[in-house]
Amino acid sequence: METKAKLLLVGATGLVGRHVLELALADARVASVVAPVRRALPAHPKLSSPQVDFDRLVPEASWWNADAVICTLGTTMKVAGSQAAFRRVDHDYPLAVARLAHAHGTPTYVLNSAVGADAQSRFFYNRVKGELEQALEREGYASLAFVRPGLIGGEREEFRLGERLLVSALAWSGPLLPRRWRLNPAPQIAQALLTAALEPQPGRHVVTADRLV
Ligand SMILES: NC(=O)c1ccc[n+]([C@@H]2O[C@H](COP(=O)([O-])OP(=O)(O)OC[C@H]3O[C@@H](n4cnc5c(N)ncnc54)[C@H](OP(=O)(O)O)[C@@H]3O)[C@@H](O)[C@H]2O)c1
Repeated sequence: METKAKLLLVGATGLVGRHVLELALADARVASVVAPVRRALPAHPKLSSPQVDFDRLVPEASWWNADAVICTLGTTMKVAGSQAAFRRVDHDYPLAVARLAHAHGTPTYVLNSAVGADAQSRFFYNRVKGELEQALEREGYASLAFVRPGLIGGEREEFRLGERLLVSALAWSGPLLPRRWRLNPAPQIAQALLTAALEPQPGRHVVTADRLV
């Protein structure tokens, strides 16, 4: 990318999103970041963070036109409360953002997906991620990247007991495990997402968990 990039980041308040934002704001190749959020972010000269309701996105907003979208949106079944509510956040919102950004001329979309994403999976979580990937492939982006971490490592605001235990176990046993089973630290995932956005490759690309350790 020769001129400095304008990025659109959704999910900027989350574990991975916070790292993407920090890296993007510090990156000399990035001119500006628009991060639509539902809770405020600290001010920064390169950042604009409009407060939005993802059920009522405004199609006319000028910030849908960017050089790349990075999507790190997501929830858990526990927080969402039902499969339908989970699917709305993990599938419908990322797809709605993709449609609006593409309609406004944005050529690149980079998704924080998950290992095992598969539209045919027996598992609801993997199926939702796979269906989102498939739907995004139909949107016509010139460059589309799916970064598929396994378990994400990092400090969460939200307490998730099962995940925390698994993260500790993987952190201890990490070097003994094959790369594809190791913990994926949030900064590594964030760097892969940012690289895919700033150095877009034509077509569809997958970054697998073994490259995020
Ligand atoms: N946990 C794992 O180990 C794991 C493994 C593989 C893949 N993934 C996937 O990786 C992605 C990023 O994960 P993460 O751990 O960084 O997620 P996270 O910390 O839970 O952050 C999720 C982001 O989505 C936003 N969000 C959630 N519900 C929303 C709603 N109803 N309306 C608007 N925004 C909403 C959050 O905003 P607020 O701050 O306003 O809540 C936050 O910015 C997710 O898609 C997740 O499924 C996770």
